[in-house]
Amino acid sequence: MAIADRADAVPTKGAVSRDIFTTRLGVIAATLGSAVGLGNIWKFPYLTGANGGAAFIIIYLLCTLVVGLPVMITEHMIGRAAREDAIATLKKLAPGKSWWLIGASGILAAFLIMAFYTEVAAWVFAYIVKAVQGAVLSTDPAVTEAAFAELITSPVQSLVWQWVVLAFIASIIALGVSKGIERMTKRLMPALFTILVIVCIRSITLPGSWQGLEFLLKPDFSKVTGATVLTAMGLAFFKLSVGMGTMITYGSYFLEDQDLPATATRVMLSDLAVSFLCGLAIFPAVFAFGFQPESGPSLLFITIPAVFSSMPFGQIFMILFFILAAIAATGAMLSLFEVPVAYLEGTLNWSRKKATVAVLVGLALVGSTAALSNSLLAHVVFPGVGTFFDLWDYLTSNILLPLGGLFLSLFAGRVLKWDNIKTWLTNKSTLQNEGAARAFYFVVRFVTPVLIFIILLSGLNVF
Ligand code: PHE
Repeated sequence: MAIADRADAVPTKGAVSRDIFTTRLGVIAATLGSAVGLGNIWKFPYLTGANGGAAFIIIYLLCTLVVGLPVMITEHMIGRAAREDAIATLKKLAPGKSWWLIGASGILAAFLIMAFYTEVAAWVFAYIVKAVQGAVLSTDPAVTEAAFAELITSPVQSLVWQWVVLAFIASIIALGVSKGIERMTKRLMPALFTILVIVCIRSITLPGSWQGLEFLLKPDFSKVTGATVLTAMGLAFFKLSVGMGTMITYGSYFLEDQDLPATATRVMLSDLAVSFLCGLAIFPAVFAFGFQPESGPSLLFITIPAVFSSMPFGQIFMILFFILAAIAATGAMLSLFEVPVAYLEGTLNWSRKKATVAVLVGLALVGSTAALSNSLLAHVVFPGVGTFFDLWDYLTSNILLPLGGLFLSLFAGRVLKWDNIKTWLTNKSTLQNEGAARAFYFVVRFVTPVLIFIILLSGLNVF
């Protein structure tokens, strides 16, 4: 990301300067670095498969548009207005009130997301090695399933790979090179995009792929329940990294003349594009080779090797694919890890090293429950949710992030005044986007919070 120290441009408290992005494109790229990750490559396909395909995608799209996007604009807007972290932003804009608790819940959410996200990243890292060895390259579901099962049912492999991921992320943070890594992530995004297009072409041209396309395009709403809709909304929050204050921090680095609604819209569209490409890469192959669309979290890992094994230079492409997936995951994890670290540093005045080590140890402990979910802890099952792995996922995507989004939209629609919002979104009337600002205000006031509330209650079976 293109960051420069422009203390002159942005006044902050005391003499402390705040880095801000130097270009408009830099802002979008950095935000995408957090948004694009395993959510696109792993979660979107497996949830789509498990929830019936096209109907789920349509609900997810609607949630992204009327829930995720307005919450993202809210976060960017208040972040840029206050130029502080999430908690300080809400304390500054609503002094003496409890709105800062959204930031506190965000810290918990970031921590719990990391607890299972690092395990999925662990699988991705392990698959780089498996790809190099060539052992998983097969179009036979039995072979690829066995290879994945061997990894996740081994307590040693699951734990060690998670520790590798944790140590990798912690060293990037402790060395203070996160910005360099983010710059790299941004450069490699086009490479990820390109390889996805190649995989899509292979997948779509497989004999029997049409069934997969039909699955993605022909909606069947008959199986949609309240829980399905909550899952789709949770995915929308998770995908855009919103509902937990991460985007407030990003907003605090934005340029004064950045068009916020347009930026958020571009981020959303790019993120959706990557997700859809992943869907197009996976589902035609799922049907062509006889995999199960409802395989759950294993879907990516058992299906994608089959696609690679049926194309020229497949092994090289597979190595590249998992390296790029690991890099995308790293970008997202850096934005997650930074949340509790920044809090311990800023509020408790800990040194960066001490804060990083504390979060690392905490994650190794809590994260191990996710890592061992398919082996030593497989017998621990939470009714209606699943293993520890599923629990952390469910608690964050389906409860904490929607609650964060609910309160953020109430804050924007009920606490902030239209005059302020108008000034912030039109950049003091220097932009011709008052229509977009008005549309945002209407949706965030009357649509977003109501929808989140209803979807949460019906998804949790309250009615
Ligand atoms: N959006 C990221 C992904 O899709 C995950 C994430 C969620 C990152 C919340 C930061 C905050 O992988």
